[in-house]
Amino acid sequence: MANAEIGVIGLAVMGANLALNIADNGYKVAVFNRTYARTEEFMKSAGELVGQLIPCKTLEEFIAAIRPPRPVIIMVKAGEPVDMQIQALKPLMTDDDIIIDAGNANFRDTLRRGEEMSQTALTFIGMGVSGGEEGARRGPSIMVGGKQASYPRVQKVLEAISAKYNGEPCAAWLGENGAGHFVKTIHNGIEYADMQMIAEVYGIMRDRLAMPAAEISDVFAKWNEGPLESYLIEITAKVLKAIDPKTDRPMIELILDAAGQKGTGRWSAIEALQMGVPATGIEAAVAARSLSAAKDERLHAEKVLGLPQSIGGADDKDAVIADLEMALLAGKIAAYAQGFAVMSAASKEFSWGLPMPTIAKIWRAGCIIQSRFLDEISTAFSKEPDVANLAVTPSFSKMLQDCDAPLRRVVSDAVLNGSPAVALASAISYFDTYRRGQGTANLIQAQRDFFGAHGFKRVDEEGDHHGPWGSS
Ligand code: 6PG
Repeated sequence: MANAEIGVIGLAVMGANLALNIADNGYKVAVFNRTYARTEEFMKSAGELVGQLIPCKTLEEFIAAIRPPRPVIIMVKAGEPVDMQIQALKPLMTDDDIIIDAGNANFRDTLRRGEEMSQTALTFIGMGVSGGEEGARRGPSIMVGGKQASYPRVQKVLEAISAKYNGEPCAAWLGENGAGHFVKTIHNGIEYADMQMIAEVYGIMRDRLAMPAAEISDVFAKWNEGPLESYLIEITAKVLKAIDPKTDRPMIELILDAAGQKGTGRWSAIEALQMGVPATGIEAAVAARSLSAAKDERLHAEKVLGLPQSIGGADDKDAVIADLEMALLAGKIAAYAQGFAVMSAASKEFSWGLPMPTIAKIWRAGCIIQSRFLDEISTAFSKEPDVANLAVTPSFSKMLQDCDAPLRRVVSDAVLNGSPAVALASAISYFDTYRRGQGTANLIQAQRDFFGAHGFKRVDEEGDHHGPWGSS
């Protein structure tokens, strides 16, 4: 009997929680998982929502359970599994049905899938969903890409299940085809940079200031009451407080320092490089994760090279901690300015017309990078939607002036003491390069012309020129 209003395929953590969230909002949801045992397990965990859910053993049963035109959310592992799922669904679905890929897809796959689906009467939506397990269950941030006309057909349910910021839903249509997944990718790139800078600051407190985990936790908890207030700072304070029940030691000390990565951070950096937009914070974060994963190599290098020797720096612990807070804020400005600049370039390249104020707005709640800071970004972009770089908006340039010196001191101190701070260092270098009207690329141009006759522009004449290198 076709009485479900929507279907969810894939009942791993994200899919299961999304299905429960939809059910919780009063919708009847058909659910399907490759292995039925998982569906049964899911139904057992659904509690009082069980009556809202229709478990299906086969895809045929699943499709038959949904009222046409059917919106079907796929939440399976990104990559080939999505293509396989779409292929399996296509012959079963009828005109006007909608397939929504809600996984962390590479937006280039979404472009291709959208193109393939446009040959059929089905509609395809590529949808970024952020917020982890809790977000999926209680309200994620939802970034939608696809034909604009398809959005009103799913808007009600997506807005209902999304997080709310001051009552405003954190869900929006952002542009055609891959726009939603692109924005989600950059969200994750920024997430990488944010997390890396937090980890660097933790490292400085742990190694340079010899602070125990619980004390560092208190610092993060305090920062969460100020301009850094955010989900990531909040959970960092909680993580650093947690005790391992097996050993009674801080949990953090027992976790191997080798970070995983599924690809979205790397894709952000690749796309930024390809478009020629600096995203040094994201690149630094990806590089740091890769180096972290080479644990054995690092242990060997430490044996061969030894740890760096401290050659000075400030000693006033409270002053260093105060600087760290401001440095983190400055580093965030760099990462977000870069992330938004990448989105702006992509928006032009793919003719998406990405609405920057809306993106900042739907990131204010539900997603992993939700923060007070994003409310300020949304205000800045609402005033100047086409500004080239967030750092030059009145509010952020003022903020940057206030935290410029602390960031400079933190990075110098880290270098003098051998504390790795690759993302924070990239931030100060980025700003120092970005804000200098007269740079050093005149020399690069001269070198290029010297060895390859590539030509250069003169500051005092029009046209292409070559240097008098023959006579040098
Ligand atoms: C989110 C998260 C989510 C997931 C990342 C983790 O926005 O909810 O970003 O998408 O946690 O995929 O990515 P890594 O495994 O690459 O850290």
